[in-house]
Amino acid sequence: MKAAILNDYEQPLSIEEIRIDPPRTGEVKVRIGATGVCHSDYHVIKGEWKYGVPMILGHEAAGIVEEIGPNVVGVQPGDHAVLSFRPYCGVCRLCTIGRSVMCEGHTGNRFVMHDGTARVHRNGEDLMILGRMGSFAEYVVIPAEQVIPVRKDVSMDVLALIGCAVTTGVGAVVNAAKVEPGSSVAVIGCGGVGLNVIQGAALVSAGQIIAVDLLDNKLEYARQFGATDTVNAAEGDPVEQVRELTGGGVDYAFEVIGNGKTVEQAVQMTRAGGTACIVGMAPQNSKATIDPLIFVTKETRLIGTWYGSARPRFDFPRLIELTLAGKLKVKELISRRYTLDQINEGFERLGRGEVARGVITFPV
Ligand code: APR
Ligand code: ZN
Repeated sequence: MKAAILNDYEQPLSIEEIRIDPPRTGEVKVRIGATGVCHSDYHVIKGEWKYGVPMILGHEAAGIVEEIGPNVVGVQPGDHAVLSFRPYCGVCRLCTIGRSVMCEGHTGNRFVMHDGTARVHRNGEDLMILGRMGSFAEYVVIPAEQVIPVRKDVSMDVLALIGCAVTTGVGAVVNAAKVEPGSSVAVIGCGGVGLNVIQGAALVSAGQIIAVDLLDNKLEYARQFGATDTVNAAEGDPVEQVRELTGGGVDYAFEVIGNGKTVEQAVQMTRAGGTACIVGMAPQNSKATIDPLIFVTKETRLIGTWYGSARPRFDFPRLIELTLAGKLKVKELISRRYTLDQINEGFERLGRGEVARGVITFPV
């Protein structure tokens, strides 16, 4: 099968023919239908997160179940599935309380199967996969608990985006920050994930929703997804501008870039009693400087959320239903479609800030 391989950092992905093994116990083979071009993969390409190479990236995906290994329950060949990039042991303390994103039951290498071995190989050499998935490929073999069967009447490109951007963004609002109706919200970074924070805020009837980005095209997208105000951070201090628009700061500020500087801005634009929420994933060893006194005198809360603090078997189907009901726009997020061979163009366009979201689709 074909896959896009990261052989070294800051290099284009290389499309190569590789071998994939059948699924073993507790594993599932999925034919990929669509997979999104997300900034998390780009962090790895740029070497901001060095997990090792060679690796197949790709963690926002949907497909059709091709084959199941022994002892797999709840998933059948032919199922349409959204893939989750977090494992779920089901018995650790965090899985038990519904916080499986941080599952601590699987302590082995995160870039191969739970038994410590790889299912994808190039001329006898093992390849690692991002998120125990590696969906920039025609097929994946993935732990069964990361395969979430869903209804069959939704297109693969929409399902793929549920697998990361939608869940991460909407979940940050609904599951993590728990924004109340009427709240004022700022969203710093209006890319694929940030636009979903914006539409999540609109979904829960936030009042003012202020989009902050450096690019006017992103601010235009932001309006389409529910922003009531926009701030171009390239034109003056965004903290001052948000404070002015709100008369002192927002109830909720979301950082959706992964940058120490913008984390500082999120905290500074939060009003007394408000919550700053970090969604963006910063490069390894980043730092942010924060005045600790405000956490007492302003009772500011600073929280983080990974993968929308999702419980995939609950959240994926409900996000799909909200999309079908017209309450979330997912098709509209897709500004570009690519073939696997065009994947490097996809990352170039992401890097230049040209798209809301790009998606790689595979022939059916
Ligand atoms: N101020 C405001 N906006 C900025 C700034 C800045 N200093 N720097 C970058 N941006 C904007 C970009 O213009 C872009 O619109 O942030 C946005 C980032 O969007 P994408 O590149 O589409 O990234 P996305 O896939 O949404 O991921 C965002 O979430 O899950 C994490 O790892 C992911 O850290 C990444 C973040
Ligand atoms: Zn992602």
